[in-house]
Amino acid sequence: MGKTDLPIGIDIGGTGIKGAPVDLQKGAFADDRLRIPTPDVSTPKAVLEVVDQIVQHFDNIKSSSPIGITVPGVVKHGAVQTAANIDPSWIGFDAAAMFSKKLGRAVHLVNDADAAGVAEQHYGAARKTKGLVIVTTLGTGIGTALIYNGALIPNSEFGHLEIDGRGAETVAAASAHEREELSWQEWAERLQRYYSEMEKLFWPDLFVVGGGVSKQADKFLHLLDLRTDIVAAKLKNKAGIIGAAHLAAREH
Ligand code: BGC
Repeated sequence: MGKTDLPIGIDIGGTGIKGAPVDLQKGAFADDRLRIPTPDVSTPKAVLEVVDQIVQHFDNIKSSSPIGITVPGVVKHGAVQTAANIDPSWIGFDAAAMFSKKLGRAVHLVNDADAAGVAEQHYGAARKTKGLVIVTTLGTGIGTALIYNGALIPNSEFGHLEIDGRGAETVAAASAHEREELSWQEWAERLQRYYSEMEKLFWPDLFVVGGGVSKQADKFLHLLDLRTDIVAAKLKNKAGIIGAAHLAAREH
């Protein structure tokens, strides 16, 4: 079989780096996802080696195909600006340019939650929603994507909203649920505080809840009492890869 020109999406997370070619018609993986553990010291250089391995693995993809890569931090013009949950050496680093040089392909770098938001908007839970959609990813941190009438407003960073003097993600991310061994009810009380505050500030039309824990949405979403509709992400933890590939194809 000849090579295909599908974009590849790669999701750089705290524990794993995952990638797959993406079928943009379907908004789905076109091949099995490959996951490699994130190096213990996750400097850009170490991560780049892993990203390269993932790209090489999909050898039926043409080298003219673009690559979309997510990072858990603010991205401005291809450079990472914050590193709440990754190695601080990423800050100020023009990662898109370096990755593109090493991989010999067009690279689009994007915040992880923004990528997930774009995917949910195009292919998932927010597909039919007009107005303001806020996609939140509950994981090690809290990522947020603001999408207004289909357009992404990037780098919203509302996981760092201060509530009662503490950063929201410290208190209400899925990692807090695990670390503090909270019951679903206890965790939901913290989520209630967070989403109520977000609702008061933004008056969104829909909240979408993503991240790995969204697989267990039936354990906590019904405990929340909000005026805004709140639903689980459809693409679950595939959203970052799909959204990054979608954006890369659109850019290049
Ligand atoms: C980072 C965000 C990221 C989120 C989820 C936060 O700590 O500041 O950029 O989207 O974690 O990974």
